Amino acid sequence: MLSQKLQDAINEQINKELHSEYIYLSIAAYFMSRDLDGIANFFIVQTQEEHFHAMKLFNYLIDRGGTVVLKEIAAPPTSFNSALEAFEKTLEHEQFITKSINDLMDLAIKENDHSLVSFLKWYVDEQIEEEATASRLVNRLKITGDTGPGLLILDSELAKRTFTPPASEE
Ligand code: FEO
Repeated sequence: MLSQKLQDAINEQINKELHSEYIYLSIAAYFMSRDLDGIANFFIVQTQEEHFHAMKLFNYLIDRGGTVVLKEIAAPPTSFNSALEAFEKTLEHEQFITKSINDLMDLAIKENDHSLVSFLKWYVDEQIEEEATASRLVNRLKITGDTGPGLLILDSELAKRTFTPPASEE
């Protein structure tokens, strides 16, 4: 049985993943308002990933006999000065989530909960990709700038992104 402390920490992480979904939905709206539907698509797919991250924790908590306690989801930022700023906020947020996952892992290790340690490894690995993707796009945006053909090329590339749940979860 999960300790109450671990249950609380998992519920906090569920809230952070749902907040991530909300942040990326807001960023998608920003790009849609600029008619950059391909970049918006990238963020819509990201919302699906974040929902998946939240539900994976949700289901784990239920499977371990814990209690899911959903909390208020904080409002996301609603205005961005440029495409670069939106991607910089994405990278910053993913770095924050990585720290949060690492803190949760530290707690699981401290409490000697082997099952949770094993389960959280997926998130530790996932955060490498989350940060790398955001970092690569920040660098691309620094090259293309906020207007001009480079941004449209990026928009076409990101229009192709689709959500694929990990095979083990299908
Ligand atoms: Fe759920 Fe983007 O980390």
